Amino acid sequence: MKVLVTGGTGYIGSHTCIQLIKQGHTPVVIDNLCNSKEMVLDRIEQVTGARPAFMQGDIRDSAFLKKVFAEYSIDSVIHFAGLKAVGESVEKPLKYYDNNVSGTLNLVREMQAANVKSLIFSSSATVYGDPASVPIKEDFPTSATNPYGRSKLMVEECLQDFHHANPDWSITLLRYFNPVGAHESGLLGEDPQGTPNNLLPFVAQVAVGRREKLGVFGNDYPTPDGTGVRDYIHVVDLADGHLAALDKMAHQPGTHIFNLGTGQGNSVLEMVHAFEAAAKRSIPYEIKPRRAGDIAECYADPAYAKATLGWTATRDLQTMVKDTWRWQSKNPNGYWD
Ligand code: NAD
Ligand code: UD1
Repeated sequence: MKVLVTGGTGYIGSHTCIQLIKQGHTPVVIDNLCNSKEMVLDRIEQVTGARPAFMQGDIRDSAFLKKVFAEYSIDSVIHFAGLKAVGESVEKPLKYYDNNVSGTLNLVREMQAANVKSLIFSSSATVYGDPASVPIKEDFPTSATNPYGRSKLMVEECLQDFHHANPDWSITLLRYFNPVGAHESGLLGEDPQGTPNNLLPFVAQVAVGRREKLGVFGNDYPTPDGTGVRDYIHVVDLADGHLAALDKMAHQPGTHIFNLGTGQGNSVLEMVHAFEAAAKRSIPYEIKPRRAGDIAECYADPAYAKATLGWTATRDLQTMVKDTWRWQSKNPNGYWD
């Protein structure tokens, strides 16, 4: 299948391109490079021997998208392009609604014009807000606590309305839990700009000496060790979830929603200790106040994805932290060296 991958030079998109190529698909990457580097394409080529076609541009630019669809005969779209910093979204909500919501609507409009009717969208477990219980199933109530989360929820709702009016489309909404890890080659990984917002990139930068110590946001949650519990999933397992959705859902009209998580919760301190074991060094940390908007526990019930897609995460916590450490230690400054 020829698959248009928006945001394909980003963290999850680049790993998905590798898995697509490995399974005989042809990814066509578009990205405006606002949060990634073109060098990622070299790394994909180093790993797979194939360099994805690439066009630099913005999903909000209709003329650009028309050119892309005219140049390539696309079967399906996997849509990763978006902004994802929760804190920034609170400061600059319009930037997030413009990029994530308007950008997606524009993409769908141009897909429709090009008669491409299969779409996989990157959603997030953030759409469950503060869940009443865990593990979380797909039919749990949704809500948003910040503009980033609201942009994901708005897109989900827009796409469901759109599907109602266009029932021959296949639209898959994948709700990711906490993507971590890196490609086993150590050539691709997560490369946040500025201070990392997320736990594992911060821990990795402490381990490599770029930061002095980790702040642990709260140790008074109602969890076994008092620190927040999340469902960390290896980015390559996550990428494989897209391949499974592409194989199973691309030609099944409907709106399909799946959790992509492992079903296992780990605390902040469990992550720190696992990382210490993988990197064979200690990670200094101090307990800080809770971060605004954080919840105690969040982990998936992945049973529906397993039953329907035949997909399940296979990489364990040791592999996640080992692969993160390999990437970080081989590329202390990410792709920006
Ligand atoms: P990323 O920032 O590494 O990748 C996103 C890519 O999209 C970047 O390369 C960026 O340059 C590009 N992009 C952004 N806006 C664009 C635009 N208007 N036009 C063209 N390209 C644009 O992020 P990621 O971690 O790979 O996340 C991919 C998707 O998954 C995002 O939609 C994100 O919201 C979603 N998601 C991520 C996580 C996570 O923790 N990483 C969790 C849940 C959902
Ligand atoms: C964050 C986002 C969420 C997004 C998710 C996956 C916020 C408020 N939420 O959630 O919208 O869907 O990432 O990308 O940003 N922690 C520390 N110290 C740190 C960083 C994190 O103790 O320096 C803790 C957090 O309190 C949490 C856990 O580590 O308990 C995981 O944090 P993080 O990686 O930011 O993910 P989420 O909180 O799940």
